[in-house]
Amino acid sequence: MPRLPMTIPGNLEALAPEIPAGVLDEPFRAACERLDRYIGALVREMASALDLGASEEPGYDRIVAERGWNDGGSLAVRWLIETLDLYGLTERTSGGWRLVPGPAAASSTEIRAEAERLLPAAGPAYEVLELCAAALPAVLRGELRGQDALFGPTTLGLWFDYFSNSNPHYALNNVITGAAVARAARPGARILEVGGGGGSAAEAALAALTQAGRPPSAYVFTELQPAFLRRGARTVQRALPAGCECRALRFDINLEPAAQGLDGARFDVVFGVNTLHLAHDLAATLANLRALLAPGGAIVVGELLRPSPIAPVHLELPFTLLDEYGRVPLSDGIRERPGFMSAQGWTRALAAAGFREVTVIPAQIERCAAIYPGFYCGAVAARG
Ligand SMILES: C[S@@+](CC[C@H](N)C(=O)[O-])C[C@H]1O[C@@H](n2cnc3c(N)ncnc32)[C@H](O)[C@@H]1O
Repeated sequence: MPRLPMTIPGNLEALAPEIPAGVLDEPFRAACERLDRYIGALVREMASALDLGASEEPGYDRIVAERGWNDGGSLAVRWLIETLDLYGLTERTSGGWRLVPGPAAASSTEIRAEAERLLPAAGPAYEVLELCAAALPAVLRGELRGQDALFGPTTLGLWFDYFSNSNPHYALNNVITGAAVARAARPGARILEVGGGGGSAAEAALAALTQAGRPPSAYVFTELQPAFLRRGARTVQRALPAGCECRALRFDINLEPAAQGLDGARFDVVFGVNTLHLAHDLAATLANLRALLAPGGAIVVGELLRPSPIAPVHLELPFTLLDEYGRVPLSDGIRERPGFMSAQGWTRALAAAGFREVTVIPAQIERCAAIYPGFYCGAVAARG
């Protein structure tokens, strides 16, 4: 398996023909390569700040316990150790591992400055990672909760900028999911979105539906957090095609839809981007969403997809600091580690919830990840 960072092969585009032409072009791949290099430099610096140069223990949980670190940071420590390995920065010792000696080519600060000079729109992706890296020592000392470090009045604007189609490092999942929604919908479809955040996935889906000549007749935009709901609802209003009715409501994927304003509602497509992995009881959430589908309706789950059920995701750091991300029950063959799941895990979860005709987009996502181990964006679609 190739290591990060690497030159992303140009044939990635040919392996993912479902992604609109030009999206994986050379400037985009170059931006991803810069972000990959940045994360490589960041993990070195984080390991050094935490005095994590070697361990006689192979696993992260014993390290967290031995150092007396707070459990709220343990997924981030796991991410750190696995990402060091993904970058070839560690080597095995008799009982554990140690950092490979040698200087970094450039500091994270230098790489970030150059990346933002070349592509200012990528700034939020760097800002979020830097915020997380800076917060981790205090989280591990038990002085700060991950969610408080990440989400507060001063960082709300950063998250609007991060979950945005202007951020090239977030937009790809929206583009892929939008393409999958447009494929699944007939003209005049009624669409329900869950976990719609600031509305970037809605923007991409509405654009894809309109471009495909299948504008929807109704769009129900939902989100849990009131500040995101307000912002997202405004974004959706601006992106709505003519004649499409719109409703925005607060909706928790962990609760029954009927009690949340969706009693008797039926949809042709239900979708969410990077939200459904947060379900506490995934089987119950998928069953609830399936019950909202009209005959012939479809679900589209846009997600970061692990290359294998337990593979690390080098972009995962921010999410590892959130309690709700880590506190999800594991299930053999479906979710074998907290957080993001693999395409195979989603396929099984959807089939177990009674969905059929499950398809993954891009269909060759495993080959994409085999030639470039930083490729995780995808969508899983199924009929109800
Ligand atoms: C990764 S963000 C998705 C961003 C969104 N797709 C966009 O385009 O801006 C995940 C979203 O899920 C929401 N969320 C978290 N827990 C949720 C729950 N239990 N039910 C519904 N939404 C939830 C969060 O508030 C957040 O906006």
